[in-house]
Formats: sequence, C-alpha cells, structure tokens
Amino acid sequence: MSFFMLVKINNFIISCIVVFIPFFPITIHASPDINYIIKDDSILNSRNDLTGDPYKGRELVRDRNKGNCLACHQLPIPEDAFHGTIGPSLHKISLRLTEAQIRLRVTDMKQINPISIMPGYFRSPEKITRISPLYENCTILSAQEVEDIVSYLVTLKSDPFESPL
Ligand code: HEC
Repeated sequence: MSFFMLVKINNFIISCIVVFIPFFPITIHASPDINYIIKDDSILNSRNDLTGDPYKGRELVRDRNKGNCLACHQLPIPEDAFHGTIGPSLHKISLRLTEAQIRLRVTDMKQINPISIMPGYFRSPEKITRISPLYENCTILSAQEVEDIVSYLVTLKSDPFESPL
C-alpha cells in the first residue's frame, strides 16, 4: 500500500471520529430514583423539592441532545427556525395547564396517552422496552432538568414572542 493511500485512510478514520463523536454526547442518568406520585393528571410536587431554573429550562428545550422539544412543538424561541408541529403549540401553555399538570406531561406523557409519541423524559426505566444495553435503567433527563423545563413552561403566559425570558 502506498504512503498516500495510508494518509488517505488515516484522514478518513479521523473524519469519521470527528463527524460521529457529536452524535454521542448524551449524558446518562443511571439508576434514577423514580419516586413521584401521580394524582389525577398531575404530579403535585417536584422530586425531593428541587427548584427549577427557567433560564436553564429554556436552553434544555432548545438543546437537540436534551429536550429537543422544538422538533415537535412551537415555542416562543424566535432564534431557532422551523419549530415542529407534530405536537400542540406550547405558546401560552401555562394558561391552559397548571404547573403540576405540565410536570406529569414532561415526566411521562404516556401516563395520559399510552400511545403518545412524546418521549417520557423521566419515565420509569422499568416501563421502557427494547432499549440498547447502554441506556438500560436510565431516564432521558434528570429530575433537576425536568424541573428546569417545567419552571420555564410555567412562564409562558403571554402572546407568542413575548416570553419574559
Ligand atoms: C416526538 C415529538 C415530541 C417531542 C420531542 C416532545 N413532545 Fe410534547 N407532545 C407531543 C405530542 C404529540 C403531544 C400531544 C399529546 C399526546 O401525545 O397525546 C405533546 C404534548 C405536550 C404537552 C401538553 C400540551 C397540551 O396542550 O396539552 C406538553 C406540556 C409538552 N408536550 C411538552 C413537551 C416538552 C417540554 C418537550 C421537550 C422536553 C416535548 N414536549 C417534546 C410530541 C412531542
């Protein structure tokens, strides 16, 4: 094999690593303690009385490796284009739902609609089937991240693009 051939192969391997590494930055939250209590269509209290940070929540809903909510929902986040329309618009969501109702929907929408396509961001791993061994016993987001997102959605009371954040 010629020297140039080897250089080409090396370059190919390096580009593969550079291209594919960004697809695996997902943080895994191993062995989560799922201890929330569902009442009617709500989860009344945050787990262990965590306090959400709405600014972090806004970033988490945008982040494609975290919530990626914009893939399916419209939100008052004008700096991102092409919001999805598979799910309902979340503009003014807190005029329609209470904080406790929003918490259950973000935690595990399948508790309300068993055939929902919305990911259960803090769904009990025991209920998740056909999963790669890498993600066994994991939730998509941490309890703190769910609270951050809930606290952001609670701020959405006004007209589109007039979010206080
Ligand atoms: C794969 C698409 C998808 C993703 C990603 C997604 N959702 Fe949903 N979401 C839905 C669908 C569809 C519904 C409608 C309810 C159902 O599934 O029956 C919904 C409903 C909701 C509702 C209730 C809305 C209402 O008017 O009752 C909230 C709140 C919500 N989603 C928040 C979020 C948040 C926050 C994220 C990101 C952390 C997110 N969703 C990510 C598809 C998605």
